Amino acid sequence: MNICVIGTGYVGLVSGVCFSDAGNKVTCLDIDAQKVENLKNGIIPIYEPGLTELVEKNINEGRLFFTTDYAEGMSDADLVIIAVGTPPKENGEANLQYIEAAARSIAEHLNDYKVIVTKSTVPVGTGAMIKGVIKEVVGHDEFDVASNPEFLREGSAIHDTVNMERAVIGVESEKAEAILKELHAPFTKNIVVTNIETSEMIKYASNAFLATKISFINEVANVCELVGADVTKVAEGMGYDPRIGPQFLNAGIGYGGSCFPKDTSALVKIADQVGYDFKIVKDVEAVNGLQRFKVVDKLVEAFNGDLKDKKIAVLGLAFKPNTDDMRDAPSVDVIPKLQELGADILAYDRIAEKNAKALIPNLRTGDDLYEVIQNSDAILILTEWDEVRELDLEKVSKLVESKVIVDGRNIFDPAHMEENGFYYASIGRKT
Ligand code: UGA
Repeated sequence: MNICVIGTGYVGLVSGVCFSDAGNKVTCLDIDAQKVENLKNGIIPIYEPGLTELVEKNINEGRLFFTTDYAEGMSDADLVIIAVGTPPKENGEANLQYIEAAARSIAEHLNDYKVIVTKSTVPVGTGAMIKGVIKEVVGHDEFDVASNPEFLREGSAIHDTVNMERAVIGVESEKAEAILKELHAPFTKNIVVTNIETSEMIKYASNAFLATKISFINEVANVCELVGADVTKVAEGMGYDPRIGPQFLNAGIGYGGSCFPKDTSALVKIADQVGYDFKIVKDVEAVNGLQRFKVVDKLVEAFNGDLKDKKIAVLGLAFKPNTDDMRDAPSVDVIPKLQELGADILAYDRIAEKNAKALIPNLRTGDDLYEVIQNSDAILILTEWDEVRELDLEKVSKLVESKVIVDGRNIFDPAHMEENGFYYASIGRKT
């Protein structure tokens, strides 16, 4: 199959590479000339394990191409995948300007029947909008639009694409259904075929539900602290019930990233626009907004209310491990709050530090984990990178006199920490 992917962000680049690795000819198109030039030379704009190698492999094997030119990208494509960004507007709505611009450019280069499929997360009704834009330009409707939302996670994007649990296909014709089924056959047997509106809704409902699980367990954690229960055991006990499942029940500082915050607020807005008050998702957002500050309270408590001039070693800046993505990372709110309280922050996150410095004014970082920890008054864990999980606690206890660790990711066993003389505060567990 010949495929043109519009947009080389996370979704476009990873899907494009994985589809080419499955034997398709894929041309990834982006209007950013510098980005395209870099990609042609195997320089990847994001940090994603395994991606550089897979891009190189498929370029070398002659299946993966990059261009800025719609005529070149679309000329022999059977399928055009729209994977441009849909960033949130001030009011929480998804901004569809890039989608609309892509639809116009596609229309201007539509030379024969193609399926135009949207992978970007878009509000219900966007498929119809794209169809309208293209039809207006080309003056006929001998093409198909379709929806095919993406469920990959940053940090395990290739694994998630190659081993997708399901593909969701929203279509209006049997021809488009056949093409999209063929594309996904090597990746999964679970193909949900439906109409475009339902497919668009599945994406928002899935992300909002996962966000709900996180805010729910975080509220359980907050109550656990007050009643002396342990949230990790509560989650374990709940998770064996297959109706609940063990995943996404890790309590902590809440969710960040480019997806859950954006998609929950977009879903609230979608509902609002049709006169429905989506109460649960609004509460999920409110709980998440507060949860990240729990670690600030715990640090304040550890120092009897006064963080002035306290040296805090912050471990991890990214919204989760294995990514350099800082969008809506809890650290972006937590660090300025600590600075406001007079704390002196030195952070460690070799992968995300560059992006973090663009978002957190006056952020100081160090290159060596143990040098950052040395002589601090307390350690604050914000991202559970493997390196942080594998922290040499014996070494730490020699470097940090106070032995205070506030852990926003619940990575250590409180009993073990207590035995070893640490002041250890985590989320939803007895300290
Ligand atoms: C999420 C979804 O998991 C993907 O299925 C979806 O495709 C993607 O959004 C998207 O819409 O593009 P992602 O944002 O990459 O993926 O990251 P997740 O691994 O889902 O984590 C999101 C946030 O939730 C992180 O901040 C993480 O620390 C937090 N989290 C996750 C918890 O606090 N507790 C948990 O139990 C799980």
